[in-house]
Amino acid sequence: MRILITGGAGCLGSNLIEHWLPAGHDIHIIDNFATGKRQVVPPQVGLTVGSVADARLVDEVVGSFRPDVVVHSAAAYKDPADWREDASTNVIGSINVAKASEAAGIQRLINFQTALCYGRPDLVPIPVTHPVRPFTSYGVSKTAGELYVLQATVPAVSFRLANIAGPRLAIGPIPTFYKRLKAGQSCFCSDTVRDFLDMSDFLALMDLAIQINAPTGVFNVSTAEGHTIKDVFDEVAAYLQVTPATPVSVVPPGVDDVPAVVLDPSETERAFGWKARVGFSDTIRNQLRWYDRHGVTDVYSHLTAPSTEGSR
Ligand SMILES: NC(=O)c1ccc[n+]([C@@H]2O[C@H](COP(=O)([O-])OP(=O)(O)OC[C@H]3O[C@@H](n4cnc5c(N)ncnc54)[C@H](O)[C@@H]3O)[C@@H](O)[C@H]2O)c1
Repeated sequence: MRILITGGAGCLGSNLIEHWLPAGHDIHIIDNFATGKRQVVPPQVGLTVGSVADARLVDEVVGSFRPDVVVHSAAAYKDPADWREDASTNVIGSINVAKASEAAGIQRLINFQTALCYGRPDLVPIPVTHPVRPFTSYGVSKTAGELYVLQATVPAVSFRLANIAGPRLAIGPIPTFYKRLKAGQSCFCSDTVRDFLDMSDFLALMDLAIQINAPTGVFNVSTAEGHTIKDVFDEVAAYLQVTPATPVSVVPPGVDDVPAVVLDPSETERAFGWKARVGFSDTIRNQLRWYDRHGVTDVYSHLTAPSTEGSR
């Protein structure tokens, strides 16, 4: 299959590349390296350096590569105050990807959405039918982008994702706690609940999602298991065999944060015949074993406060 991945040098994109190249897929990516890294792009992958906000560039790449499937993974979130960049990448970029996909008549368009689209949810686990009411620049722009993708006249699916842990994860509580505890630094935990998904479960769903007759529409992707950030801290501390000198402080959620985000994946399980297999503890430990081997890179967050938060 010919697969175009926008944001292919990022965490999810590069894991998809590692997973799909050995399966014989022909892959091309577009990335501006805002948060992705050139060195994670293998030489067998076609690389266009540039922004999805550049309509002409997206049209050219889609027109010349002629993908069967487009995976739209590019997103901006680095600076929560930079609404223009968020809108440019997450809204205009998504429009450009949707329009180019339509013009090329691609077979599948797969979009990734943040659970922050639900804003402060009325109930947890959050059903996929829950109204969207994002309130951060990232959430607002990603939600507009998703709505445009779903307008495209090609078979489109948007996955609303739990926090995916796996190779090259550089955001959120797991890398933050790992780095700080290893350096003997103190940590604090926000009083929030999140769901975590192992990369292997995400990749298994993506294998199903690129099939030509796979379901279309919007789906939550999660284990449905909620855990506090303190649970994450405890897992990391236990793994590193660190006993903090003083109990870790637990602080209330920040103004731009949501107390509990746990997605209900039941509709996804039914439609795709998929279910997450890796539990919370193994997901965290898989991640920590990866950091032992490769280290932690830059830690970015879409939240305004220095973060130990979990939602993406
Ligand atoms: N990883 C998660 O747990 C998670 C959870 C919810 C949603 N998502 C969504 O999944 C997608 C991938 O997330 P990720 O974790 O891999 O993030 P990431 O930051 O690692 O990857 C995003 C990639 O997009 C690239 N990019 C940014 N702006 C661009 C632009 N204008 N043009 C081209 N490329 C651009 C970045 O350089 C980066 O390589 C995003 O859409 C994100 O909103 C991820």
